[in-house]
Order: sequence, then structure tokens, then C-alpha cells
Amino acid sequence: MGLLSLTTLTLAALAVAAPSPRQDAGLTYKDFSSSNGIVYRVAIPDVTAAPFDVALQIVAPKAVGWAGLAWGGSMLNNPLTVAYPNGDTVTVSSRVAGGYQAPTPYAGAEYTVRPGTTVNTTHWVLDTLCKGCSQWNGGGLDPSGDVVLAWAFAPNAVANPSSNTSNIAFHNQGKGAENFDLTAAKVKDFEAIVSGGTAGGDEAPASSSSAAAAAPTP
Ligand code: HEM
Repeated sequence: MGLLSLTTLTLAALAVAAPSPRQDAGLTYKDFSSSNGIVYRVAIPDVTAAPFDVALQIVAPKAVGWAGLAWGGSMLNNPLTVAYPNGDTVTVSSRVAGGYQAPTPYAGAEYTVRPGTTVNTTHWVLDTLCKGCSQWNGGGLDPSGDVVLAWAFAPNAVANPSSNTSNIAFHNQGKGAENFDLTAAKVKDFEAIVSGGTAGGDEAPASSSSAAAAAPTP
């Protein structure tokens, strides 16, 4: 193989290996950071009322065992999105908590795992679309202003990472809540993008080898 083709191959490999999660998903997200360097990114359609689908990315350093988002701004009685690394991919788990105990599976939300989901040498990234996270029994998200989103995480690896009902450890290192301006998370062509109408929406996930070289911007 000549030098030129080797260089071309290397460049092609880099182009595949280095999409930021933001670009990979074809959406522009509004984000916030919790403690321990975890970044939550949210995008929603340009709507005036719930229910609507939400796109969520969680970018977490490898030292994080699970990270979760509570859409109602506190732990209790609202949809919880919990994510944990599972080998070279990430499991998303739908939960709800009626008390301050381990949350149980929640059937009111449905998740699609999107192509930005990846694990590399430093981080794991969940890229998902949730149906059912914007409205629940007793509450919902107002897309016209600030909402409160709550977060929690634990350093402990989960017991059974391939299962979306795995036991998870108590968030002994962190939990909190964030005022979040949902109007800034609105994306005009949201439906077209997430249904694959725009480049990036329905691409196959990066292979584990190229994902391993990627460096998502947290
Ligand atoms: C084994 C799993 C879990 C256990 C045992 C647990 C337990 C507790 C307990 C005992 C508290 C009150 C004491 C304290 O503030 O430390 C609490 C608060 C809290 N938890 Fe959890 N939790 C779990 C999972 C989760 C998950 C998955 C989330 C979010 C996705 C979450 C979010 C929160 C938040 C935001 C608070 C602050 C108070 C509130 O907002 O209601 N927890 N949790």
C-alpha cells in the first residue's frame, strides 16, 4: 500500500472516529453539567405543550457507574432515565420511585437508543429518544420556560449491565437539581431529524473499534 492510500485510510478512520455526540445525533442540544463531570444534553421539538418526545444525551466519565435524570425535578413520582455502560454500549433503563428506595421499572416511558451511544477510553455516552418523559401522572414539562431537572449518579458499576432492570447502587456521591430553560432546547426540525430524515438520524452506531478512538467533548 502506498503512502497516499495509507494517509487516506487514516484520515477516513479519523473522520469516522471523532464525531462529537452533538453532531452525531444531528440535533443541537442545550446542556448542563452535574458534579463529577457528567453532562446532560436535552433537545425537544418546537412545541407549546406536552406531551412531546425528548432527546437526551448523557456523557459520563468512565468512573461513573450509573447516571440518571429525573424529569420532574425530584426523585419521586416522575419518569427517571437511568443509564449505565455495558461493554462497548450503554443500557438505558426506565424507572420510577414512589419512595426514597431503589426505583422500579416504569412502563410509562419508551426509549429508542440512538447512534451517538458509545463507549470510548474516557467516557460513555447514552444518546436516546424518550416517549413518555415529558408528561406523567400528576405532572409534565412546560416547554415554554424553565423547568427543574434533577440528576443523580453513583460510581459503582451496576450488578447486571445488560439488563435494563439491573439493581443500581445508592447515589452516595451526588444528586442535585438544575433550572433548565427548555425553550433553548427546542429544535425546529426535530421530528425529521430523529426519524432519520436528516443525515445522522439513522446511521448505524459506530463500531466499537472506532468508538474506542473517539473523544466526545463532555
Ligand atoms: C438504589 C437507587 C436509589 C436509592 C436507594 C435512592 C435513595 C434516595 C434517598 C434515601 C434519598 C433521600 C436522602 C438523600 O437526599 O440522600 C434520595 C434523594 C434523591 N434521589 Fe434517590 N435513590 C436512588 C436512585 C435515584 C435515581 C435513579 C435518581 C434520579 C434519576 C435519584 C434522584 C434523587 C434526587 C434528585 C434526590 C434528592 C431529593 C429529591 O429530589 O427527592 N435517586 N434518594
